[in-house]
Amino acid sequence: MKKPIVAGNWKMHKTPSETGRFVRELRERLGATTLNPEIIIAPPFVCVPVAVEAAAGSAVAVACQNLHWEDKGAYTGEISGAMIKDVGCTHVIIGHSERRQYFGETDTSVNKKIAAALRHDLVPIFCLGETLGEREQGMTFDVVIRQLHGGLSDIRPTDPKRLVIAYEPVWAIGTGKTATQEQAQEVHAFLRGQLSGMFGSDFAQQVRILYGGSIKPSNAAELFAAEDIDGGLVGGACLQIEDFVGIIEAAR
Ligand code: PGA
Repeated sequence: MKKPIVAGNWKMHKTPSETGRFVRELRERLGATTLNPEIIIAPPFVCVPVAVEAAAGSAVAVACQNLHWEDKGAYTGEISGAMIKDVGCTHVIIGHSERRQYFGETDTSVNKKIAAALRHDLVPIFCLGETLGEREQGMTFDVVIRQLHGGLSDIRPTDPKRLVIAYEPVWAIGTGKTATQEQAQEVHAFLRGQLSGMFGSDFAQQVRILYGGSIKPSNAAELFAAEDIDGGLVGGACLQIEDFVGIIEAAR
C-alpha cells in the first residue's frame, strides 16, 4: 500500500521565530498518531534549521522549496543539494510553477535539479501542470507529457518511494479554483500511465502523485479519494495549523 503524503509549501511566508512556534504547535496538535499520511513542511531556506530542530523526533519531515543543480561553486544566492542534505532536509520541491513563471525555470533546469536531489539522497517533489490557456486550448496532456519527460530525462529512479510527482494545474494555484476530482484524476491516471512506460508498471503503481491547487479541509477528502491521487501539496491552507491538520486528517 502506498502511504499518502500531505506536504505544505510555505512559499515566502513565516520568519524563523514564527517557524519554531508553528512546528511546536503542529507537533502538539498531531500527537503521536502521525505515521499515516507522511507529513512534510517546506519552509523558506532561512527557517529550515529551526524547522528541523523543532520537528526532530516527530513524524514531520522538512523540505526545501528549491536547490541549485551544482554541489558548490560561484553561484551567488544559491543553495546546493549537499547543503540541504546537511541541514537535515529529506525532500526538496522542484519545478514549482512560480519558479517556472518568475525565475525562468525550464524543463532542462528542472531536470538538472532532480538529478542533483537524487545524487544527494533527497526526495524530489517534482511539480508540473498546465496553465488556464493551455487547458482551454486542449493542451493539458501535451504540456504535462513534455514536463514529465523533460524533467526526468536521463534519470533512472529505482525506488518509487524516492520520487514524488505533484500535479499542480497553474490555474488552481492560489486562486481558490480547485480542480474537480474528475479533472485531477484524469491527469493523474495519465501521468501514471506515462511513468509506467518510462519505468515499468510496478514503479508507476507505487510512485506517489500528489495534487496541488487550492486544497482546503473542505475539498481534500474528495480529492484524496480518487484512485490515482496519493495526497496533496498544499500552499495557502498549510499556513494555519487548523487547516493543515484538517487536510492531514482527510488523508488518513
Ligand atoms: P495553493 O498552492 O494551495 O495556495 O493553491 C499550492 C502550491 O502552490 O503548491
